[in-house]
Amino acid sequence: MMDTLKIPVLAAPLQGVTDNVWRMAQHEVFGGLDAYYAPFMRVERSEVRRKDLRDVDPGRNQGITLIPQILACQPDHALMMVDALQQMGYRRIDINLGCPFPPIALHRKGAGMLAYPELAEELFKALASVEEVEYSVKMRIGWDKNDQWRDIVPLMDIIKPVNIAVHPRTGKQQYKGELDMEQFEALLAASPWPVVYNGSLRTIDDIRQIIERYPTLAAVMVGSGLAANPGMFAPDAVPGDYRRFHDMLVDGYTEQLNGGEAQLVRHLQDIWQTFLPGTNRKLFKAIRKSRTLDQYENAADAALNDVENALSAKPEEDNPDTLL
Ligand SMILES: Cc1cc2nc3c(=O)[nH]c(=O)nc-3n(C[C@H](O)[C@H](O)[C@H](O)COP(=O)(O)O)c2cc1C
Repeated sequence: MMDTLKIPVLAAPLQGVTDNVWRMAQHEVFGGLDAYYAPFMRVERSEVRRKDLRDVDPGRNQGITLIPQILACQPDHALMMVDALQQMGYRRIDINLGCPFPPIALHRKGAGMLAYPELAEELFKALASVEEVEYSVKMRIGWDKNDQWRDIVPLMDIIKPVNIAVHPRTGKQQYKGELDMEQFEALLAASPWPVVYNGSLRTIDDIRQIIERYPTLAAVMVGSGLAANPGMFAPDAVPGDYRRFHDMLVDGYTEQLNGGEAQLVRHLQDIWQTFLPGTNRKLFKAIRKSRTLDQYENAADAALNDVENALSAKPEEDNPDTLL
């Protein structure tokens, strides 16, 4: 918990970004989070994806509180994942009812399940049959209607979640359009479960405002804001920390990705889609255009130099929130 906020701060899962390499680098260089949610794991061809299991392997997540997340429609798939996670020692598991990606949601998984309370009920019943595991839920307000949560939240009595993290959009909205704060408020008032707010928190000030507006929140969850500025909760961060964080990613992915240089470069380029969005456009383009690791490293080096110079030039009393 960041002292000045007086509320737990959770790192949202971002598939393709906040994996174990990113989490370890963020934790070691900046920190400030109370727990990290892992991007969802799933069953493919009747097996829990190995890549997903490796990502939550406790050996690769040392020193942090990690909450693994499962995405499933079929109860047997969900149970397979819960069993694998229990064997790794996990006792707290998050259920994804929020993923809006059409290939997933149209199979009634993630946010897609919010339109099918009968399927959610079956899933919850199966999960509740497992002993010694507690659940949380990460959800949206609905799939194609903004009040579908009204049929889903009461069903959670079956699993009695530790909390529910709510992103106040429908699945159909994906990540665009207005946040529906009216429905969020109605959900917050109606929920018997502690509620975590998640959506567009980009600065410490945004968090302060949301806590002030909703004092009953159990925690806040930060996704793209933290991907953009992993030092968001590190008031003592120095400009060189962003380079150290970046270099840890390069080392971690060099070791972990086994698809050769091209895959490594593509992954690092993907990270820059959200990382340090204030990066000078020309330098960002050079990163995007690089084809070899050498080209990438030169381009990233120039971008990080620019970021460091910009940060060093700011007077010390500036709020670090506003720097990136
Ligand atoms: C690229 C990307 C990947 C995501 N992956 C997941 C995921 O694996 N599980 C999940 O529950 N939410 C996932 N989300 C949703 C985020 O966790 C979060 O709810 C959303 O980005 C809104 O919060 P924010 O405005 O703080 O980013 C993803 C979002 C994005 C943009």
